[in-house]
Amino acid sequence: MEPKMTIADAAKVLNMGTKVLEKELTNRGLTFAKHQAGGYFTHTVAKEIFDLQVTPKIMAFQIVKGGTGKTSLVHETAVRASLYGLKVLCLDMDQQGNLTQSFDIDVEEVPVMVDLIAEGYPMSDAIIPVAPGIDLIGSRIENAIIDDVLTLKRLPLDRVYAEPLKKLKKHYDLIIIDCPPNLGQSVAAITLAADLVVAPVAPEKFALTGLNLTCNALAELEENFGTKIPFAIVVNKYEARTKLSQEALNFIEKNKQYKNKLMAKVRLSREFPSASTTCQSIYTAIRQSSAKQDIDDLTIKLIQYAKKGKTNKNKSYLESAQI
Ligand SMILES: Nc1ncnc2c1ncn2[C@@H]1O[C@H](COP(=O)(O)OP(=O)(O)O)[C@@H](O)[C@H]1O
Ligand SMILES: [Mg+2]
Repeated sequence: MEPKMTIADAAKVLNMGTKVLEKELTNRGLTFAKHQAGGYFTHTVAKEIFDLQVTPKIMAFQIVKGGTGKTSLVHETAVRASLYGLKVLCLDMDQQGNLTQSFDIDVEEVPVMVDLIAEGYPMSDAIIPVAPGIDLIGSRIENAIIDDVLTLKRLPLDRVYAEPLKKLKKHYDLIIIDCPPNLGQSVAAITLAADLVVAPVAPEKFALTGLNLTCNALAELEENFGTKIPFAIVVNKYEARTKLSQEALNFIEKNKQYKNKLMAKVRLSREFPSASTTCQSIYTAIRQSSAKQDIDDLTIKLIQYAKKGKTNKNKSYLESAQI
């Protein structure tokens, strides 16, 4: 089932009424489906109607802690960005291959990053189209030896992924990377290729320690390679009522290093696990929910990050758009 952008959501972002948007779509011959819960359209129409102009960006979701939502947030923000018409490449760097599985893709017979590095193949050899507007470089367990390959081949960490990914930027608006929960060579090389590192923090034991470790590693890379790596925090699985959630948020908001980095909060929602077990995005359904709202909020922030300095004034109705 294809992910959907509801007319109601699109109209809100475009700052117009739903009827006006429906009329605009009809006038331009853009197809949308009618549904008792409201109309919707998919990626191809989204591309026409939002017409977003971005500077392509590489965003790496990483933190040294499993289960904080890296894979879920990469999958859902990629889908949501595709529903704003953007062309997205997802890169699964975790040897567990959860992101690959979440797109219901089998990469047994397809090269993954370790093959590309070991054999010197171009990254384009590993790209699989998975959904309208979304391509994937998948992962499987063989990626577990990637750090060894990088070391043995003495590949330069600041160039090994950065150079080929930079070339791929010509073909995509966003490249979103799901990192494994470690701080090895490969994660360092991804960090050095990224325009933005996003750390999902869940209000759980060790999560804040994980955040500290990730930030220290980032600072070290910045120093060693004389570069700046922008960084953002997403509090995931947030529950306003619980002590743990409040403590995590307080810690971030009071900490000198972190307080300006909080990008978004994604509430705890049962929609996520059920969506991942069926390998479907939460946006295949059109019913409104807190999960859809929160991922939308995060995706808009990521898109705005990529839109800095760009305007989309080609069409008059976009002048007051919220994105
Ligand atoms: N906001 C959320 N609310 C509820 N469950 C979530 C949320 N985000 C992620 N999950 C669930 O938490 C589990 C771990 O998430 P996952 O994305 O695999 O984490 P990671 O990639 O960091 O290990 C999965 O079952 C996922 O569906
Ligand atoms: Mg994961």
